[in-house]
Amino acid sequence: MGFLLLAPSKIAWIISITKAGTSISNPKSKKYRSTVFRANMPPGPFIAPNPQVVVLLDGKSFPVLFDVTKVEKKDLFTGTFMPSTELTGGYRVLSYLDPSEPNHAKLKQLMFYLLKTRRDHVIPEFNASYTELFTSLEKNLALRGKASFGDANDQAAFNFLARCWFGADPAETTLGLDGPGLVSKWVLFNLGPVLKLGLPKYLEDLTIHTFRLPPLLIKKSYQRLYDFFYASSGLLLDEAENLGISREEACHNLLFTTCFNSFGGMRIVFTNMMKWLGRAGTKLHARLAEEVRSEVRSNGGSITMRGMEQMPLMKSVVYEALRIEPPVSLQYGKAKRDLIIESHDAAFEVKEGEMLFGFQPFATKDPKIFTQAEEFVADRFVGEGEKLLKHVLWSNGPETEKPTLENKQCAGKDFVVLVSRLFLVELFLRYDSFEVEVASSPLGAAVTVTSLKRASF
Ligand code: HEM
Repeated sequence: MGFLLLAPSKIAWIISITKAGTSISNPKSKKYRSTVFRANMPPGPFIAPNPQVVVLLDGKSFPVLFDVTKVEKKDLFTGTFMPSTELTGGYRVLSYLDPSEPNHAKLKQLMFYLLKTRRDHVIPEFNASYTELFTSLEKNLALRGKASFGDANDQAAFNFLARCWFGADPAETTLGLDGPGLVSKWVLFNLGPVLKLGLPKYLEDLTIHTFRLPPLLIKKSYQRLYDFFYASSGLLLDEAENLGISREEACHNLLFTTCFNSFGGMRIVFTNMMKWLGRAGTKLHARLAEEVRSEVRSNGGSITMRGMEQMPLMKSVVYEALRIEPPVSLQYGKAKRDLIIESHDAAFEVKEGEMLFGFQPFATKDPKIFTQAEEFVADRFVGEGEKLLKHVLWSNGPETEKPTLENKQCAGKDFVVLVSRLFLVELFLRYDSFEVEVASSPLGAAVTVTSLKRASF
């Protein structure tokens, strides 16, 4: 995943400068309300050679970004600029590769192999790491009356991924508890040009949005992460060699997938779920606790994949959180040829080589597709509602489709849904209800837990 943020004000700005729309068939699109138009995107010209994009803002036009026969996905994971390859050991890692490049299939195969060979570790390691999270939240609540969810989740997510996929406990190595901090700094070097850190706007625009942070400054931190992964990935690196990838290139890719795609994603997804559930209130919490506990009890107290399939409300809540606030909100693709792109009520001509940019929340909150599109409707995807899953797009593709070696859909799609479900199950097995305070942060929300009500039934 790539977790870029564009402030709502920037979207308003894009919309407001696009009165000259580009419809070839419908003059209405020239008006303010057009959902497809041309605009310029940050960052500035020292970082991005060409800031021009065609913006797609509705659920009909957006899916063209998933069609790799129409769009090229080379070097645009982070948008109109690409971070220096010095940040990834000199390699263009998988997320930046187009499926037409031979390494794409090899590296994606390696990620599928990782997920498959380690799948039996997911449920027990998740339980172990997230038990630590809840213990730490409770401790901090008792001490200070509140607890940062983000800090505890960073530690839990990193430990979980390391233990689950690499069979290594960071605390028992020289990495200690430093993993999440090292990753955060490295992500800043990757995404600085498009991050909002909360400094005065002019300061950010003159600094990180105009010039790249020198990769040399992060080299030592990155090396510590690399050494940890290299020492723990022996069998995976053997498999990589079988697939025709050098051990070194494979390790940089495993690091990126674990730290950027997965850790970065879990940070945003879990925080968002806490936020939306916190806002939804105690009635929904009670329904979830009832559903989760009765199913786990009927399974003799065990959490299983099959058991979780029998929790329709919990499953729907996960999808609704991914719909209402897609964790990676910005997607890009370069037109492979001249294209006609259709929105709900117009068609637009796009030239070969033009950069298409979709802001996903507009697609997944399109009122022509979802009723009460702006509201968190917990049971939206229960029963008949499952038909709407094809419009849930967080994984860079419809929820009803699968990542393959030929497409650019998130390799971890099923894993993400699984761990999100596990998170809710662990949460509602322990607590009847909880309360949070929400503030903004450079990547997603900052959630502070202010109360946890222990399970009473
Ligand atoms: C936790 C939440 C996650 C989110 C929200 C997320 C989201 C995404 C998105 C939106 C893309 C496509 C980006 C683009 O090309 O425009 C992507 C690609 C990718 N994701 Fe995820 N991801 C998550 C977790 C994971 C996990 C756990 C893995 C582990 C295997 C993973 C591996 C990848 C890879 C390898 C790609 C590139 C796929 C390709 O080149 O074909 N992601 N992800």
